[in-house]
Amino acid sequence: MKTKILITGATGLIGQEIAKACLEKGYKIHYLTTSKVKISNEDNYKGFYWNPKEGEIDKSCFKNVSVIINLAGASISKRWTDSYKKEILESRTQALQLLKETIKVYGFKIQHIISASAIGIYPDSLINYYKEDYHEVSSSFLGQVVSQWESAVDEFSNLKIKVTKIRIGLVLSNKGGALLEIAKPIQFGFGAAFGSGKQWQSWIHIKDLAELFVFIKQHNIEGTYNAVAPNPVSNKELVKAVAKVLKKPLLLPNIPKSVMKLILGEMHELLFESHRVSSRKTENLGFNFKYHHLQKALRDLFPFKTNYIQK
Ligand SMILES: NC(=O)c1ccc[n+]([C@@H]2O[C@H](COP(=O)([O-])OP(=O)(O)OC[C@H]3O[C@@H](n4cnc5c(N)ncnc54)[C@H](OP(=O)(O)O)[C@@H]3O)[C@@H](O)[C@H]2O)c1
Repeated sequence: MKTKILITGATGLIGQEIAKACLEKGYKIHYLTTSKVKISNEDNYKGFYWNPKEGEIDKSCFKNVSVIINLAGASISKRWTDSYKKEILESRTQALQLLKETIKVYGFKIQHIISASAIGIYPDSLINYYKEDYHEVSSSFLGQVVSQWESAVDEFSNLKIKVTKIRIGLVLSNKGGALLEIAKPIQFGFGAAFGSGKQWQSWIHIKDLAELFVFIKQHNIEGTYNAVAPNPVSNKELVKAVAKVLKKPLLLPNIPKSVMKLILGEMHELLFESHRVSSRKTENLGFNFKYHHLQKALRDLFPFKTNYIQK
């Protein structure tokens, strides 16, 4: 029988790419969604409703499932009011709590959970080069969220389920997420780096990220792994590289932190935090990144804009 994987957050940016990669490998997918209109009922791709806030879940989602890929969580790119901050945290912890309790009470035979996490767990630093065994947790709001999110995932080991945590960096996709937000102002001639522009951005191409989740499943790998490409860049280098690929000049001076704080509130932290993160442990698994360097990743994501592709 084909392996069946249950994915939470499958309808999101990363989830859709992981679902595609899983289907290509011949896995069947069940997915949980909080939105009834997103439920489809295909043989290989079946949706089930849940509402973690209310403790509601369609238990048939677990039928013949051996592996869970957990990505669910409220978006972090909306204004961080106090009530929304609560939602960012609880959408992650309550979802895991509900999965765990349901598996425990009904005795579903899950062997492995592979959960998204984030490099925001590491403290903001221009100097450090973070490996997975770095123990200090960032005191920022996101650092605290990720730490509690990881603790909630760790609890699955009490049910004798293998646990893998994938600390995801800045995901580069041309369908949504940070890259399009960076590219939009550049496209209109308003692109600029943030602050000193020296802050490290540890990025990953979305295709490599999806392949990494599949690789972890195929090889039954446990533990904590950074999902970042081997060559992180500074914010300034990232913005310059995007401008180059889009063939647009960068005319504006860097945007000061105080301005972005006024516009975005506490969320401005996202643009100014620096995380230089190592991919060594992930590469040592035998995982081959297709996109090691930023230029190659950007050319793949914006092909029609490059001389390289036109030649
Ligand atoms: N994109 C990045 O650069 C990045 C970096 C580091 C970590 N991550 C983490 O990786 C995960 C996936 O990221 P993504 O970019 O694919 O995010 P996304 O596009 O926002 O997708 C997340 C999915 O989570 C589900 N969701 C939203 N609110 C929920 C709630 N209150 N309760 C339960 N489920 C909820 C939604 O699915 P339904 O509508 O179907 O329920 C949504 O499609 C997220 O947890 C994110 O924090 C992302």
